[in-house]
Amino acid sequence: MSVIAAAEPVVQPALAERLDGYVSRAQTAARAFRELRQEEVDRIVWAMVVAGLRGAVELAELAMEETGFGVFEDKVVKNYIATEFLYDYLKDKRSVGVIDEDPERGIEYVAEPIGVVLALTPITNPTSTVLFKAIVAAKTRNAIVFRPSARAARCAQRAVEILQKAGDEAGLPRDALQVIPDPTLDVSQYLFHHRGVDFIWTTGGPKAVAAANEAGKPCVSVGPGNAPVYIHRSADVRMAVVDMLISKTFDSSVICPAEQTCVIDDAIWDETVEELERMGARLLSGDDVERLAKLAFAPDGSVEMRALGQSCLNLGSLAGFEATADDKVLLAALPSDPAELAAHPLVREKLMPVLGLVRSPSVEHALEVCELVTEQGGLGHTSAVYATDDDVVRRFAERIRTGRILVNAPTAVGALGGVYNSMTPTFSLGCGTWGGSVTTDNVNYRNLLNVKTVSRRQAPAQWFRVPSNTYFNPGAIDSLRQLKAAQALLVTDPQAEGRGVADEVRAHLDGTGVHVFSEVGPEPGEAVIRRGVKVVDELRPELLIAVGGGSVIDAAKAMRLFHESPELSLDELTLPFLDARKRVANYPEIEHSVRLVAMPTTAGTGSEVSPAAVLTVGGRKATLVDYSLVPDMAVVEPRLTLSMPPTLTADSGVDALTHALEAAVSIFASPYTDAFCVQAVYQILPNLPRAFEHPDDLEARTAMSNAATIAGLAFSNAFVGVNHALAHAVGARFGIAHGRANAIFLPHVLRYNAALPSKFMPAPGYTAYVAPEKYAQIGWIIGLGGRTEAEQRERLFARVEQLLDDVRMPRSLEAAGVSRAEFESSLPELARAAFEDASIRTNPRIPLVRELAQLLEEGFHGR
Ligand SMILES: NC(=O)c1ccc[n+]([C@@H]2O[C@H](COP(=O)([O-])OP(=O)(O)OC[C@H]3O[C@@H](n4cnc5c(N)ncnc54)[C@H](O)[C@@H]3O)[C@@H](O)[C@H]2O)c1
Ligand SMILES: [Fe+2]
Repeated sequence: MSVIAAAEPVVQPALAERLDGYVSRAQTAARAFRELRQEEVDRIVWAMVVAGLRGAVELAELAMEETGFGVFEDKVVKNYIATEFLYDYLKDKRSVGVIDEDPERGIEYVAEPIGVVLALTPITNPTSTVLFKAIVAAKTRNAIVFRPSARAARCAQRAVEILQKAGDEAGLPRDALQVIPDPTLDVSQYLFHHRGVDFIWTTGGPKAVAAANEAGKPCVSVGPGNAPVYIHRSADVRMAVVDMLISKTFDSSVICPAEQTCVIDDAIWDETVEELERMGARLLSGDDVERLAKLAFAPDGSVEMRALGQSCLNLGSLAGFEATADDKVLLAALPSDPAELAAHPLVREKLMPVLGLVRSPSVEHALEVCELVTEQGGLGHTSAVYATDDDVVRRFAERIRTGRILVNAPTAVGALGGVYNSMTPTFSLGCGTWGGSVTTDNVNYRNLLNVKTVSRRQAPAQWFRVPSNTYFNPGAIDSLRQLKAAQALLVTDPQAEGRGVADEVRAHLDGTGVHVFSEVGPEPGEAVIRRGVKVVDELRPELLIAVGGGSVIDAAKAMRLFHESPELSLDELTLPFLDARKRVANYPEIEHSVRLVAMPTTAGTGSEVSPAAVLTVGGRKATLVDYSLVPDMAVVEPRLTLSMPPTLTADSGVDALTHALEAAVSIFASPYTDAFCVQAVYQILPNLPRAFEHPDDLEARTAMSNAATIAGLAFSNAFVGVNHALAHAVGARFGIAHGRANAIFLPHVLRYNAALPSKFMPAPGYTAYVAPEKYAQIGWIIGLGGRTEAEQRERLFARVEQLLDDVRMPRSLEAAGVSRAEFESSLPELARAAFEDASIRTNPRIPLVRELAQLLEEGFHGR
């Protein structure tokens, strides 16, 4: 029964049955092949190579006899390249099982055969291509069925016979090599569409390439060439001449990468042509060129078979001009004018010892001509440039669209690889998409494998980064004395300056000029940053001392960034990202020229140790995050927080609590950050209400200052989550202070993250959904009691809610003064802004937009 699909080419039933037989035997061989190990395969390859080498001369003779053209000696060389050079390349290559590994990336590459390969081979290299493809197929454990060119079927068959015999003895599966000699197109079409054929590997003319590509199967198809050569005035002319003569005479030029048109710089035209003639080339007269053109191509432009691969002598007598047996190559001077050249028949591929010559006035003209030549049937194939001027080589390589560009080397023998260079040896030269191929490779065993990537799970290493120095507890401000600087810029807000903060700092900085920039208000925007940068640019201080709340410290971070890297744009730096380590935004990697000291006057943001700076850009909160933003020194002086009114104490304290509770369940949480989270929560729960009720309680203030910085260290490494995303969105929209905005959502987000996620956050380091456990763990460690995990968690949540009430936090957006109408009209926009906020990237569950809307609703109504 025929196994081809309906509506595909049909042949007579008897022929179909016979063809099916070939394919089905090949399939059986392919199955047997799959069982072989590398050593067994290599033994087979060795045996085939040896047999091919021994048969090289006989096969060359047969090829000459059958095709009637080419050069016997060169056909022998081609057969050697297809065996000896190929073997040298293949002998230590792995093609079975694990062929490559990258332990650092946890990746292994495992090779599998394709199955049944249908191979078309050309008339130009009839036996060498068969030797080459058969050995490559054996190396890759593929069964191969040959469809040789109709005029070279016998020699191909003999090559297969020789290889099969040697292979048999070495364990080659039966019928792994077969030839189907029937010359008709129907047979090819039938096989092209055969379900049992897994892959088509074509080497042939444009028609064969097109037909194979149309079959709709995986294939590598390589077609004809038309190689231009450029000899620049900086070239070694004698070398170029010998190279071209070697190459152009090789097998009478019946080889697709052979030189076709040589573009010679004006300045060296005479010298080069003389040298060519001296070495045995014959320069034809204009009339003879016309005679040759008539002989080489039929009026319809097709190649005249009579002229294919003929010697100069034969070409002369066929065309009607004088040539001798000593002539190596016929030189045909072609027009320099590109339009005239394009119309000349001899601009095309000449599979005979005929080389076109074009005189060129400039590099630009030469490149244009070479490009034009490739466009006449040589795109994707091969080209060459002779030059010692590297710039010319570079320009040529950039401009010319060929898969191989040979520099100071012959194309025919050079492109096959291994003789003049280290390219992969091949008889199948990929021409890229320009020539209908999937590859520009020198096709070899890799192209005949299905390579599987076995990729092991990898969790990238984590980090715990802290600024170099943190001074804390009452009196920490004295640490400023150690700073040595001629000029410092104090960045602060007008209120702080009013409280005498600037004077206090000055008192601790003997011998340092202190200039004050006190324009930073809450939620700083671009304008104030720009003004600040201008001051830094003019003053050029060695030191920036930021004294204030998170707004001031964040502004100072941004001022330093844009002072040191004025080329950066806020727009680019706040680009969204999925994974901070892979993000597109480019932060500078430079040594700071200005040191940044951060002294918080609130106890909340942790900005004094964090890599984040929150700015207001275009009515939204935008977060800059990069470790280059981390201050060099943090001075956590609790006395500076004594002046905070209770609402600010509460707002900033709840911010710190939220940092700790979000970092604890983040996908980047680690034992390092966990320790900091627990300690921060432990300090905040009792001390925030104390500081709230008794603003002068220095002990409570100290605990809060430290807790805020400790929470800052945790979230600087583990980052925050969906609570901050929601707080940023509503904070910017309704002008609600950051801490209160956090407070409104905190109870809802805790329950949200403790529930079973509808969508998990993909994170290799987060191997189980541990957020609910982590909350319970915190409750238990800080001594809230509870027997079961659920109880422990509930107690923590209840305690958090109690704290929010104790410090009189609004418990809903409504209570914070947002009207229903206002809320409802902005809900979609808020959900979207929260979804785009970078904070959600480290939340343990991915919040769906509708879940964000739900959380926003909950936040609006409260309990
Ligand atoms: N960079 C980070 O890592 C990070 C983290 C969380 C929050 N933030 C950001 O920080 C900002 C909030 O910072 P914040 O909560 O410190 O408030 P803030 O800096 O915005 O200051 C709020 C107000 O309190 C006043 N103030 C500050 N200290 C005072 C004191 N000791 N006595 C009296 N008044 C004082 C300020 O003058 C200001 O008017 C927000 O923009 C938030 O997004 C940044
Ligand atoms: Fe915050």
